[in-house]
Amino acid sequence: MSGSTPMRSGKERAAELSEAEIAVHWREEGYFQPSSRFIGQANLSDPSVRERFSEAHFPECFREYADLLTWDHYWQTTLDSSKPPFYNWFVGGRLNVCYNCVDRHLPKHKNKAALIFVGEPEEDAPQSITYQELYVRVNEVAALLQEFAGLKTGDRVTIHMPMVPELPITMLACARLGVVHSVVFGGFSGESCGRRIADSGSQVLITTDGYYRSGKLLDHKANADLAVKTAAEEGQKVEKVLIWRRFPNGRSATSTPMVEGRDYVINDLLTKYRGRRVAPVSQPAEAPLFLMYTSGTTGRPKGCQHSSGGYLAYVAGTSKFVQDIHPEDVYWCLADIGWITGHSYIVYGPLALGATSVIYEGVPTFPDPGRPWRIAERLDVNIFHTSPTSIRMLRKVGPEEPAKYHYHFKHMTTVGEPIEPEAWKWYYHSVGKDEAVIVDTWWQTETGGFLCSTLPALDRMKPGSAGPGVPGIYPVILDENGQEVPPGSNKAGNICIRNPWPGLMQTIWRDPDRFVKQYFSRYNKDPKSKDWHDWPYFAGDGALLAPDGYYRILGRIDDVINVAGHRLGTKEIESACLTVPEVAEAAVVPVVDELRGRLPEVYVSLKPGVTASPSAIQEKVVHAIEVEIGKIARPRSVQIVSDMPKTRSGKIMRRVLAAISNTMDVGDVTTLANPDVVEQIRTAVQGKEKKAARSGPEDIKAFGQEH
Ligand code: WT7
Repeated sequence: MSGSTPMRSGKERAAELSEAEIAVHWREEGYFQPSSRFIGQANLSDPSVRERFSEAHFPECFREYADLLTWDHYWQTTLDSSKPPFYNWFVGGRLNVCYNCVDRHLPKHKNKAALIFVGEPEEDAPQSITYQELYVRVNEVAALLQEFAGLKTGDRVTIHMPMVPELPITMLACARLGVVHSVVFGGFSGESCGRRIADSGSQVLITTDGYYRSGKLLDHKANADLAVKTAAEEGQKVEKVLIWRRFPNGRSATSTPMVEGRDYVINDLLTKYRGRRVAPVSQPAEAPLFLMYTSGTTGRPKGCQHSSGGYLAYVAGTSKFVQDIHPEDVYWCLADIGWITGHSYIVYGPLALGATSVIYEGVPTFPDPGRPWRIAERLDVNIFHTSPTSIRMLRKVGPEEPAKYHYHFKHMTTVGEPIEPEAWKWYYHSVGKDEAVIVDTWWQTETGGFLCSTLPALDRMKPGSAGPGVPGIYPVILDENGQEVPPGSNKAGNICIRNPWPGLMQTIWRDPDRFVKQYFSRYNKDPKSKDWHDWPYFAGDGALLAPDGYYRILGRIDDVINVAGHRLGTKEIESACLTVPEVAEAAVVPVVDELRGRLPEVYVSLKPGVTASPSAIQEKVVHAIEVEIGKIARPRSVQIVSDMPKTRSGKIMRRVLAAISNTMDVGDVTTLANPDVVEQIRTAVQGKEKKAARSGPEDIKAFGQEH
């Protein structure tokens, strides 16, 4: 894409283009080629895959993915799309997900490591868990969940755990029984966990006593008490809290007391289940496997419900073809299992393929920025997967570190946020040593697996661009009116997927109407239509399509802030602020951060007569956010304002606040009810001297606009 449009004022632009079509200025990057060495060993190097997965062969193309699994009963219908946008894949099929990830590998790979756990303290040796050992431990836990906790097929259980091997063991034990797990990211607060327990209707909470993070042993059991309390306030009683020990030999990692008759240490209970085996429950393909809560435009997180057969087929297929995982590879994804990336591409995808998946407990830069490369060297990791935020951090604190260690990656992934070409190139040259192919995978909690990415042996790489749709995914960019934005037009729009695919979530737990409204209503013209073509999936991201068919993802167009690759709802953070009694109104906006992509910035106005000092209020607000959500949502700053900029109808203009926080043009504010407050806030945030406005990224420009 060559000619970029000259800069014009916001008003001029708005007159010519609809919001979703904001012109984007972007220097086109050159291509990088996968090495012939990589291509020679790749799972997918046959270009006919594009034809096999073309629309002419949809939905039957996904048979290839389903055939990576072992079915108890083979399915009859590839896709039932008679009730769009609710779809059933591999109808009539029965399988067990745990069997597919564990049991079926025993004949060939019994003695091979399934998981390698690397604890944060570097003096602790890595622990390998073979497929045989995984089989034994998963069975014992399944027996305990069934008999001691009374869990049955279809029940939900909430798991609030950090990155320890007992987390995937617990997930697989649930899958063995057909119990639906809802894993809550370990860094979320007890309150956050409690709200998810209540929404999912879990009577059992599974947790850990403590874990290491940045050299500190954190007391995690304390969160369980808060979670149970919050769940009870929301009407859900937790009958049992099952607690894993971080340390062997009975040493406890918590000083929080046990609650008699409610709290039990799993490690102690397990002695009764030694050697027990539980038959895997044969489940219909469409049986729910798990819920994963994610933030959206409203304050309440939504439970994305994922299926057994479709989901597992999709993550197995994409792990094989996009991640290029072979059973002999050592694969390390630095994400947390508490997010979708960890579910799909640490646990289910890699284990379905019989690979070795590394689990690292701590922060990548502990005790120094050479740590990841020492781990890679020691374990001989050859596939590495992380986020732009980790890449930026590792680059900032240790740009020369990778060269000091003898490891060789054949393949690397970046996921979760847009990556700047500069960071991409450091990843390629320094981390990948000019040897590894890179895939930039764009997808979401809702989508189960990858949507856009290059195919590692078939496509050239282009820094900063995710690439085309992966096999069987047909993306499209639509403008405000539902018209397709053509490739090479240099205009951004809303990226949608035209078709259903096996990894797509089934529904929002207990809220099918919200599922339809959130993801499909936007571009559906006939709500009665029974044809899937009428139901494009609306992803909520702005994107741009280059003439070569590569998509460049610009970021969220809704009230979601992507902090270090983690999705936070501004409404959730605002509700947390409102728990502070002195706060009258709160507005949260994203600000650009060099390392973490975006950070939340908080604006609050106070109730009349508040006497507390500004710093005391700021502390209270930050504390409230940490308690209600978790430390990941900590704002860059808390601005106390005399009044919020508002429309005449009283709506807070978050768009204006976002412009101020990011030193961007606030646009026309003359129609506001209180235009004077804008300049007041601007000087309070930016200082008296007027700074030159920057143009700013697309997601910030789109923030707070009506969509
Ligand atoms: C949002 C989804 C996908 C698993 C991790 C996050 C952003 C994701 C990319 C990418 C640019 C990306 C999008 C998306 N995103 N991958 N490769 N390039 N942006 O899952 O928490 O559901 O967040 O993350 O904005 O909508 P999530």
